[in-house]
Amino acid sequence: MSAAVKAVLPLGLLFVVPFNPTLLSDNNCFSRNFYGNYRDGDSTVSVTVARLDDAACTEFWSNEVDEASLSAAPEAGRSAVWLERAAMEEGLVSESTASDTLDDLLESLNRPVQEYRGYDSAGGEEIVLKSEESGLQPGYTVHYRTEHAALVSLDSGKALAVDTLLPPFWKSKLLPSTPVSYIPVPDSATDAVRSILSDLKFDPVVASIVGNISIPQIKKDIRHLTGEDESSGIISRHSFSDGAIVAAEWLKARVEETGASCTLAPFLTGFAPNVICRYEAVEETNATVLISGHYDSRGSFGSTRAPGGDDDGSGTVGVLSIARVIGRKGVKFHSNVELAFFAGEEQGLLGSRAYARELREAGANLTLMVQADMTAYRAPGEPLQLGLPARIGTPEVTQLVANISAIYSPELHVGITTACCSDHQSFHEQGFPATQVFERAGSIADPMYHNSGDLSDREGYDFEQLFAIAKVQFATVLHTAGYEL
Ligand SMILES: *[C@@H]1O[C@H](CO)[C@@H](O)[C@H](O)[C@H]1NC(C)=O
Ligand SMILES: *[C@@H]1O[C@H](CO)[C@@H](O)[C@H](O)[C@H]1NC(C)=O
Ligand SMILES: *[C@@H]1O[C@H](CO)[C@@H](O)[C@H](O)[C@H]1NC(C)=O
Ligand SMILES: *[C@@H]1O[C@H](CO)[C@@H](O)[C@H](O)[C@H]1NC(C)=O
Ligand SMILES: [Zn+2]
Repeated sequence: MSAAVKAVLPLGLLFVVPFNPTLLSDNNCFSRNFYGNYRDGDSTVSVTVARLDDAACTEFWSNEVDEASLSAAPEAGRSAVWLERAAMEEGLVSESTASDTLDDLLESLNRPVQEYRGYDSAGGEEIVLKSEESGLQPGYTVHYRTEHAALVSLDSGKALAVDTLLPPFWKSKLLPSTPVSYIPVPDSATDAVRSILSDLKFDPVVASIVGNISIPQIKKDIRHLTGEDESSGIISRHSFSDGAIVAAEWLKARVEETGASCTLAPFLTGFAPNVICRYEAVEETNATVLISGHYDSRGSFGSTRAPGGDDDGSGTVGVLSIARVIGRKGVKFHSNVELAFFAGEEQGLLGSRAYARELREAGANLTLMVQADMTAYRAPGEPLQLGLPARIGTPEVTQLVANISAIYSPELHVGITTACCSDHQSFHEQGFPATQVFERAGSIADPMYHNSGDLSDREGYDFEQLFAIAKVQFATVLHTAGYEL
C-alpha cells in the first residue's frame, strides 16, 4: 500500500477488498472486523473496518493487503448500505428503464421513504415510522462505487427501508451496525458432510416420503401467500407490511399442525419476525439440520403490492410442503430438524443474520442448512433446473445437494448460479455448513423479479420445478438427520 494510505490508517476506515478466502480463513484483522461479502458485478468483495486502537491491524493492512479501496467510516446516526446490481439475464436488463444507472439510483436516495408501520421487536405495540417523525434526513455519502455497486451511508432510519426506493434490478444490503468475526466452517463440520455424501445411496423409503409432497396443496398455499386467493387478506409481504405479520402467523399455525413447535422471533424493530419451527429428535442429541426460505418480499417502486410468488413464496411453500408431509406421514428424526422462514432478507439477510449469530453464540451444532430462494421460474424453452451457488456457500454441502438431486429429482439439470446470495450466506459466514437451491443454472431470468406482478398464475411459473427442488431439500434433511416412520 502507498505511504499516503498508511498515513491515514489510524482513522476509523472502511475497507473494500477483493474476496480472498485465504485471508478470511486466518484469524486476523480482516476476519475479526468483518462486515460481509458483497457482489460487485462479476466479482465478490469483502467489507471490513480497520480498528483504531490496534497496532497489529495497522501492520496487517500495510503488509498483507495489496489492493483495497478505503474511506472514512459512517458518521454517528448514519448506517452503511451496500447497493448492488442483481445478476440478471442480459435481455431483461436492456429492456429496463433508464433509471437503472448508478447515478440515477443515487439520486433516488434523496427521495423520502414511504411511511411504514412496523413490528415492535420488544413485543410491545406496533410502531409507526414516518419520515417527519423519525427525523429521516435526505442526503447520502458515497464510500465506494463502481459501475455495478456502491457503498453509501445515510440516515439510519432511512437505511432500513432503502429497498423501497430502488428499481427492481438493484438490491440494497444494510451492513451490520458493528463488525463481527468471520468464522470459517471448521474441518470437523465439512468432514461430517463428506461422510454423509460418501454413504449416500438411493433409499426407496426416502423416495416415497419426498414423493408425497402435494402439488395441488402447494398451489393453494402459494395463492394464499400472494393474495391471489383474496380471502387471505395478504396484499404485501414486505417486511414492514401488515401482510407479513399475517403471513408469519399463518405459517406458524400451519407448521404447528404438523407436530413442530414454532416461535415468532423478532430480530429488529420495524421488521416482521422470523418464524422458527422445530421437530425434536427422537434421541438425545444436539445435532440439528436446518432448512429455510424467506417469506418477506419486494414489490415495484411506489406500489403497495408485493406478492413475492417466486421471490420467495416458492421457497416458503416448498418448506411448508415438507412440513405437511412430515405431519401426514408422522416422520420422526434422529437429529433435531428446524424449519425457518426468515424476514428482512430483502434488506440484506437481516433475519437470518440475527438467527445465525444467535446459534453461533449458543454453540449450536448445525450439521448443515439449505436455503430455498426462488425455485419456481423456468424461462420458456429451458429444461427444469437446479442452480447452486458459485462462490458463497460450503462446497461440501453444495456437492451433497447436487448428488441428492441426481438421485431423487433426476429431471433437474443441475448447474451453477451467479444469483448470489440468500440467507445461507449468513450461516456460512458464521461457520455453519450451508448452501442455497435456486431455479436456474446461470443468472436471474424471471422478468417479474422484485415486481408487483410476481404472481403464481403466470407464464413460466412452474410447479413441477418447485416440487422437484422441494424434493431435493427434503431428501437432504432425511439423509442428513436420519428418520423413522
Ligand atoms: C457425486 O456425483 C458425482 C457426479 O455424478 C459422482 O462423480 C461422485 O462420485 C458422487 N459422489 C459421491 C461421493 O457419491
Ligand atoms: C400422501 O400419503 C397419504 C397417506 O400417507 C396419501 O393419502 C396421499 O394421497 C399421499 N399424497 C400424495 C400426493 O402422494
Ligand atoms: C454434534 O452432533 C454430533 C452427532 O450427535 C456429535 O457427534 C458431535 O460431537 C456434536 N458436535 C458438537 C460440537 O457438539
Ligand atoms: C452437544 O453434544 C455433545 C455430545 O454429543 C457435547 O459434547 C457438546 O458439548 C454439546 N453441545 C452443547 C452446546 O450442548
Ligand atoms: Zn429472495
